[in-house]
Amino acid sequence: MRSSFGLICAAALMGIAPGCQAADTASYKDAETGFTFSQYNAQYTIGRSITYRIAVPSPVPANSAYDVVLQVVAPNEVAWAGLAWGGSMIANPLTVAWSNSPNVVVSSRYATQHAAPSAYADASYELFKPGTHVNSTHWQYTVKCTGCTSYNTATGSRRILNPSGANRLAFAYSGTRPANPSSNVSSISVHDVYNYWSHDFSIAGNPDFSSLMVRNLGHA
Ligand code: HEM
Ligand SMILES: *[C@@H]1O[C@H](CO)[C@@H](O)[C@H](O)[C@H]1NC(C)=O
Ligand SMILES: *[C@@H]1O[C@H](CO)[C@@H](O)[C@H](O)[C@H]1NC(C)=O
Repeated sequence: MRSSFGLICAAALMGIAPGCQAADTASYKDAETGFTFSQYNAQYTIGRSITYRIAVPSPVPANSAYDVVLQVVAPNEVAWAGLAWGGSMIANPLTVAWSNSPNVVVSSRYATQHAAPSAYADASYELFKPGTHVNSTHWQYTVKCTGCTSYNTATGSRRILNPSGANRLAFAYSGTRPANPSSNVSSISVHDVYNYWSHDFSIAGNPDFSSLMVRNLGHA
């Protein structure tokens, strides 16, 4: 485990980063999929967290869109868990997921206001078999996303998340099950908790990204 605490706190002291969040992200090597992730434990209630892990290719050419691998681990009481790639509910790709035991459903969403988000066609997802499972305590999924790390902002400019630095992300948690859990377009009800953090992508790089993709998906 390598914590990015020092780097982010140094940046905060220098006024570069918005805050100094203790041990925000740490490096995590997943034996099941072989990817190295940068991970954050998002606390949704005292002592209980949803883990968000992100793996990126390395190197990523400057100003290029890039795919990402997302792995999420949630206690079974988490009825849906969302990730906002641009760090806010509105005008950025939202990855929403829930358990539909023995499967996990991932839904691509986007919101233009603080109301139920709609389907978002500019991001596409491919679930891994390795790294996706439900057991008696947790549900977990691992997915490739194309279109999560770049998007058009509310003002119309193109934004690409920094593949080698910190990005402000947000999560949302709900304890209420989606109305139709087998469908990725199910309606969902509002979150009980949301929050923000700074996710260090500089410790999420995988030089063997495409060969690991082949290992897990059968293609790059
Ligand atoms: C039915 C679904 C949803 C409804 C009705 C809803 C509604 C709302 C409302 C009313 C607020 C403002 C709360 C306040 O001002 O205190 C809010 C804020 C927020 N929501 Fe949602 N939301 C939904 C789904 C989601 C999802 C799927 C995500 C992320 C994946 C998300 C992330 C956030 C975040 C980060 C905020 C804080 C303000 C912001 O960043 O814009 N929401 N939501
Ligand atoms: C739901 O899944 C289908 C088939 O994989 C996909 O084409 C569609 O984009 C998904 N919709 C959402 C909202 O994720
Ligand atoms: C259930 O899954 C979670 C998350 O994937 C894992 O940490 C835990 O060890 C698993 N528990 C059992 C009993 O296999």
